[in-house]
Amino acid sequence: MTKPLTTAEIRESFLAFFENKGSKRLPSASLIPNDPSLLLTAAGMVPFKPIFLGVKQPEVPRATTAQKCVRTTDIDIIGSTGRHLSFFEMLGSFSFGDYFKREAIAWSWEYSTEVLGLDPDRLWATVYRDDDEAAQLWEEETPLTAERIKRFDEADNFWAAGPTGPCGPCSELFYDRGADFACDEPDCSVGCECDRYVEYWNLVFMQYNRDEHGTLTPLPNQSIDTGMGLERMAAIMQDVASNFDIDLMRQLVALAEKITNTSYTGSFDADANTDTALRIISDHARSVAFLIADGVLPSNEGRGYVLRRLLRRAVRYGRLLGVSDPFMQQMTDKVIDLMGEHYQELLAHRELIAGIVAAEEERFLQTLRTGLSYLADALAALPQGGELSGAAAFELHDTYGFPVDLTLEIAAEGGYSVDSDSFEQHMDQQKERARGSVQDVSWSSFGGTHADIVQEFGATYFEGYNTYELDAVVLAIVDQDGKRVKKLKKDQQGELILNYSPFYGEQGGQAGDTGSISAAGASNGKGAYFQVTDTRIKDGLIIHAGTVQRGSIAASESVTAAIDLKRRNLIRRNHTATHLLHWALRKVVGTHVTQAGSFVGDTRLRFDFTHFERLTAQQLAEIERLLNEKIADDLPVRAFETTYTESRELGVMALFGEKYDEYVRVLEIGNTSKELCGGTHVGRSSEIGLFKITNEESVGANMRRIEAVTSIAAYDYVTTLQEELLAVATTLKASPRDVHAKVTTLLESSKKLKAQLKEGGAAASKMDTETLLDRAVVTKTSDGSYKTVIASPENVTAGDLRQVWDSVRQAGADACILLTADCATKKTIYLAAATDAATNAGFHAGQQVQQIAAATAGRGGGKPAMAQGGADELEPARLQEILAEVRAHCMAGS
Ligand code: SER
Repeated sequence: MTKPLTTAEIRESFLAFFENKGSKRLPSASLIPNDPSLLLTAAGMVPFKPIFLGVKQPEVPRATTAQKCVRTTDIDIIGSTGRHLSFFEMLGSFSFGDYFKREAIAWSWEYSTEVLGLDPDRLWATVYRDDDEAAQLWEEETPLTAERIKRFDEADNFWAAGPTGPCGPCSELFYDRGADFACDEPDCSVGCECDRYVEYWNLVFMQYNRDEHGTLTPLPNQSIDTGMGLERMAAIMQDVASNFDIDLMRQLVALAEKITNTSYTGSFDADANTDTALRIISDHARSVAFLIADGVLPSNEGRGYVLRRLLRRAVRYGRLLGVSDPFMQQMTDKVIDLMGEHYQELLAHRELIAGIVAAEEERFLQTLRTGLSYLADALAALPQGGELSGAAAFELHDTYGFPVDLTLEIAAEGGYSVDSDSFEQHMDQQKERARGSVQDVSWSSFGGTHADIVQEFGATYFEGYNTYELDAVVLAIVDQDGKRVKKLKKDQQGELILNYSPFYGEQGGQAGDTGSISAAGASNGKGAYFQVTDTRIKDGLIIHAGTVQRGSIAASESVTAAIDLKRRNLIRRNHTATHLLHWALRKVVGTHVTQAGSFVGDTRLRFDFTHFERLTAQQLAEIERLLNEKIADDLPVRAFETTYTESRELGVMALFGEKYDEYVRVLEIGNTSKELCGGTHVGRSSEIGLFKITNEESVGANMRRIEAVTSIAAYDYVTTLQEELLAVATTLKASPRDVHAKVTTLLESSKKLKAQLKEGGAAASKMDTETLLDRAVVTKTSDGSYKTVIASPENVTAGDLRQVWDSVRQAGADACILLTADCATKKTIYLAAATDAATNAGFHAGQQVQQIAAATAGRGGGKPAMAQGGADELEPARLQEILAEVRAHCMAGS
């Protein structure tokens, strides 16, 4: 059998080997884990965590995968070593309570020696300090002898996906690359940090679950999780020095060389800056392309920040190599070319990846341009090796959007430090300020009072999913100043806290209910009546804010709490429509769309989501139609409670970064949207009536907003549009359906008319020319005679005077003297011009203009054949006077 050499061949041989051992080949899971405790998928076992924990039943007892992984814990050293990558593929084999240590060990040996053909004499194994069983199995199942089976403690041979969760002792396989790769340490052996002994396969014996106190409890089943770094194995098989020299990576490095016009030497010396930069660009391009393909968009938090940081880091290293234009799209395109065949999601999202990379890079280059020059100035003002103030780093972050890790990096490169403590203080102060500015003063002062009330009575029971009016008891009253009081009198504002409430307090983007809280007899116009104008949640309490309209309300009184049902109905239609909108957006625009915020009120809804460009009219139309179809389908809307873990398995959408309780409420609309939601919704989709999008706009980088209306508001919206259309139709004397055709015809005819007018204008000026010529003055001199047009043409500017001269000359004039007011500036303008015949007979344009200039207190002059000039604005009468004088002179032949 030929040995697999390329990354693609190694990947395939691994999967096929374990398939032969009865494992099911499963596709790689997304880089976005279905697990709120993890930011990104960083190991092959991540998708199987619930199975290892016994929370989910496995569908098959054995599986094998090539899992895409992103790890950025050691981002700072990526590029400076040959082993670290932010993106890598992990070849994994898994047993879910099926085979255990013996098979895992025997098969790793079999694959290494028989499929990869690794020399058994170069292989070493390690086991966990106390794991005698594993050590013995290595001896039983393989030719390895005790001296080639090393024991290490927890740091090296105990594996866990995170601080909590499934874990267990592990056993690792090492390959000895030979003395050429060794360091100078005399005791260089397995476990040494140098490049000689490469750890290439980790066999984890999943035996325990670690809780938050660090306590280990045995897992229901003993399982196996093994992981082999594909790139590391490719480097061994291809006998190249580092991960960056393997077939796949080398092609990316080659493109980076081309883009940056540099050469890669493969050096890892501390000053090999070009090589380091090329490695960073090549590595980060893969993470960027894969993260976007899985729906991550650049942002300032969570995994969006990981993506942004990787992309920006690559761009900056490109700049260090002298590239000032955007280039990362070329790199990610290459990643797609090289890896799209195995990872189809890259091909499916080629355009999305290109669009996001281009937009983000452009934005960052802009930030860099401004930020870098600010930073350069700030550093230049420091003594050599000085410390940049926290205020300056904060200014860079806050005003220029310049990431602080970049400030730290650039400062360090120049031998400067940054006052990070002070920077953090500035950040904290800003957060404090932000908190202060968003809080509504009338609510902010209430803190302690509410906490006391909840201590005394517990949280309010919300009964309002299906009940809109109920009898309750007033537990506590808070006045306008935030103080606990016994009673609220007529016209006083304040808050009532009840034991039960049908009022939904504003949360999750849904507006709070309004309504009334009244004492017995209120319906007869007696008894107390408190109008609720807003409802909020605080410390678990439902707070009804409003004013006493009649009588007075005291603590411990029995009351009837009733919401404004009409308004609630409008709100819930909008809320259910918001879920459908989210679903439709992901369907039409792509699964990278995630909710970034929403507002659901009674008159409209607003939905903010992640996306990098304006939605096309076609996309909007498609979304609107899809929604209205689902409304017309009269789908059942079902809410049910389940555990958070279960909801994730049902594929329910949860908002990233939100903290959910163990029990969650799932809102399901037919077989379309499934989301976690505590809000109030319609019973069937048809209650929404109608859905219309009223606006789509950008609300920040990679963030868009859709505003929409439903039911009666949608009807009003459409009606208003229709009324406007009817008004236009009436004016046009057309039926509404013909308006478009009629307007098109009108526009065309208006265009024609304009053209005709232009022609008519030309004809009119021709007429003018003839009139002018009729009134021309003929001057006779001893040298001949000439005909001069002396006129004050209207509606002209200085530039037009020559044209007037051209037309009178063509019509037979020998000379002209034109004096008029510029139609635009009202200034006085004049021009004199003559043919050769006229100048030969004694006409001198320059002199004519000089005379006019003298008479108008203006300036001007020129040659005998052409002269012009100008003066300030003159009274029209004075202009005519001067013109008459000129005419008189001409007639007199002077
Ligand atoms: N989970 C282990 C690792 O990531 C083996 O797959 O190393």
